[in-house]
Amino acid sequence: MKVAVFSAKPHDRAFLAQANEAAGRPHQIQFFETHLDPKTVGLAAGASAVCPFVNDVVDRAVLAELADLGVRLVALRGAGFNNVDLAAAGKLGIRVARVPAYSPWAVGEHAVALMLALNRKLVRAHARTHEGNFALDGLLGFDMHGKTVGLVGLGRIGLVVARILGGFGCRVLGFDPAVGDEFRALGGEAVGLEDLLAGSDIISLHCPLTPETRHLIDAAAVARMKHGVMLINTSRGAVIDTRAVIDGLKSGRVGYLGLDVYEEEGDLFFEDLSEQVLQDDVFARLLTFRNVLITGHQAFFTREALEAIARTTVENISAFERSGAPLHEVTSEKFVCAEEKSKEETIA
Ligand code: NAI
Repeated sequence: MKVAVFSAKPHDRAFLAQANEAAGRPHQIQFFETHLDPKTVGLAAGASAVCPFVNDVVDRAVLAELADLGVRLVALRGAGFNNVDLAAAGKLGIRVARVPAYSPWAVGEHAVALMLALNRKLVRAHARTHEGNFALDGLLGFDMHGKTVGLVGLGRIGLVVARILGGFGCRVLGFDPAVGDEFRALGGEAVGLEDLLAGSDIISLHCPLTPETRHLIDAAAVARMKHGVMLINTSRGAVIDTRAVIDGLKSGRVGYLGLDVYEEEGDLFFEDLSEQVLQDDVFARLLTFRNVLITGHQAFFTREALEAIARTTVENISAFERSGAPLHEVTSEKFVCAEEKSKEETIA
């Protein structure tokens, strides 16, 4: 099948080409660096499937154009689909597939990396040693052992983090409306959100972005936290009210902040903007704090995760070619459509 891959970075080319090769090269894949949007949709001419990424536009207009071009499958390279108008796709006879899960370890391990780097001030220490400054002032950390960590969201990733932190000797609290036995079996204590916020030295967010979790961490939540708390967000930017957390940083209530995601990341992340003037004043303020560590939505970015994403994407396309249905289909009946924004959110 002819497939047009949009927003293709060098790693997408490498991993998708490898997965296609391993499957016996069933598909002819064409890579386009550009995003899929109303201006670029014509590039899909001749393809039966398109493969977009999280910031690509797959709205009603783009889907209508794709249908006219003969495209019958949208194979997303990730789990999230809030950039796709599922209802329009259904009406136009275009099937939509995704990669529901690829590596909870990639994200969980990155969350812990942020915790350790913030605690032991690794970025500052690295810069100092490269300057020939071996003084320890300002680098004082704390033992993870014996600290209380609160996990919001105890799904695949939350459980990985619980397992790792249990190994460190942390006391692990967890809040999830659908908490399962596995968390308790790991020695975790299921608590209410208020108790988690008040009782944790470190809080790490692993819930999806839904109408209920948008700005879950707002000014009131920050006010409930321990003075000097460490807050980690590898879930979705909008789970945090960034301005409220900035106020928390200014007052010292938030002692450390580790972010892999940001509310307005769509305008920033995944691109090299180093030659441009930063226009986002809130993000610029975040960068001024020495106790804030930000990565640009890279928690998912491991070899194993990319292999799994590419393999499942090829499997989705092959299954569609064989039977007319992809392996992991999303439809507007099963999920709330893009216009109504969410139930489940984009995963990288
Ligand atoms: P999952 O679906 O396995 O688990 C999510 C858990 O959150 C579920 O147990 C659910 O019951 C719980 N939850 C739902 N609403 C909640 C609420 N109001 N409060 C507390 N818990 C709530 O999802 P998984 O795979 O663990 O991923 C979690 C999130 O991590 C994703 O939704 C995504 O936002 C983020 N993610 C980030 C990546 C990155 O590269 N930074 C990559 C992959 C996922």
